[in-house]
Amino acid sequence: HSLQSLHTFALPSRCRELVRIEVPEQLTHIDFDTPFFILGEGSNCIFLEDFHGTVVLVANRGIEVTETELHYTVKAGAGENWHQLVLKLLDMGIGGLENLALIPGTVGAAPVQNIGAYGVELADVFDSLTGYNIDTKAFETLDKVACQFGYRDSTFKGALQGRFVITQVVLKLPKQWRPVLNYGPLKDLVGQSVNAKDVAERVMQIRRSKLPDPNVCANAGSFFKNPVVSKETARKLCEQYADMPVYPVSELTVKLAAGWLIEQAGLKGHRIGGIRVYDKQALVLVNDQQGRGTELLNMIAYIQQAVSEKFAIALIPEVRLVAQQGEWVQGDNYG
Ligand code: FAD
Ligand code: EPU
Repeated sequence: HSLQSLHTFALPSRCRELVRIEVPEQLTHIDFDTPFFILGEGSNCIFLEDFHGTVVLVANRGIEVTETELHYTVKAGAGENWHQLVLKLLDMGIGGLENLALIPGTVGAAPVQNIGAYGVELADVFDSLTGYNIDTKAFETLDKVACQFGYRDSTFKGALQGRFVITQVVLKLPKQWRPVLNYGPLKDLVGQSVNAKDVAERVMQIRRSKLPDPNVCANAGSFFKNPVVSKETARKLCEQYADMPVYPVSELTVKLAAGWLIEQAGLKGHRIGGIRVYDKQALVLVNDQQGRGTELLNMIAYIQQAVSEKFAIALIPEVRLVAQQGEWVQGDNYG
């Protein structure tokens, strides 16, 4: 089965078998002892080459909204599209997800990397989730603590990586809505009387101006994570580069902007084969000329080397790379 249209970076690739999950119970019949990969809409994973296994496409739908005195509780099937859920809730007059508008992908994948944008992350609105535990062969419910959310991180990228298929996510949204306007370009709205739809509109406008639409130009969003470094490292860099963006993280650490580092390394617009560093946002790589997995790997290594030489900072891919046998981590054998 071709995977090219099933991941937004659209490299040519195939899998041995594709199983579409419409109801969670189907998961109990899958042979998880042979190689498999769990897939949503493929906007954060890239098939570098043919995958020699079964792709389990999570597509179960359904949205249910209930309310208590202070909160709305939203239960959504993993196969629902995240952005459509955001829009649907806004239409119902329910705010809270507006900063996360226009993030591609499914509801089920949202907890995996704890999606975040414009000062809000999934963890802020998350209640619990249900999924199929491949090892215990049972459906289990995990609360927020069990999910171990961090910046672009969760237990689904750690202990439970590839061992837990999320089938439903439960969100808890306070009825008392408060806008979150502290991220750079949203600060313009501070002091204005805005509702959740206004904030969503602004977020969508900013995103459309910077990020390529995967339906028009193949890409996987931010390619690398923004590096979290010690305050001391950042201070030294700031002495040399006064305009370098720095975001607070903890008492000892801060986050740098990988896009800025890549641009300063002179790589905006750089091309290797069919792959190019996007010119409006250097953190995004686009596959605009029928690129190949090997070209992408060369590009990753090239960017990492240039940024490491200039700033002594190591960039780590944010997207998940999949090779013949499954998820591929740099340093592993390829092919
Ligand atoms: P996939 O790519 O299909 O899967 C991603 C990972 O999750 C894989 O490891 C997969 O095995 C696993 N997975 C998927 N579904 C399940 C499931 N049901 N159970 C268990 N594991 C599962 N992300 C942000 O955080 N913020 C952004 O602002 C943002 N902007 C983006 C902009 C663009 C243009 C693009 C292309 C991507 C962007 N992303 C962003 C990344 C992406 O939207 C998110 O990571 C999204 O959650 C991926 O959803 P998906 O269904 O496409 O996941
Ligand atoms: N910048 C540059 N040059 C560039 C790109 C960025 O100088 O080519 C500078 C910007 O001017 C700004 C800073 O870097 O000062 C940060 O840029 P931006 O606000 O565009 O955000 P980002 O750090 O590049 C992160 C997320 C995005 C998310 C936005 C908004 C990561 C890895 N990426 O990008 O998420 O939408 O913030 O919150 O954390 C994704 O995960 O796929 C994604 C798009």
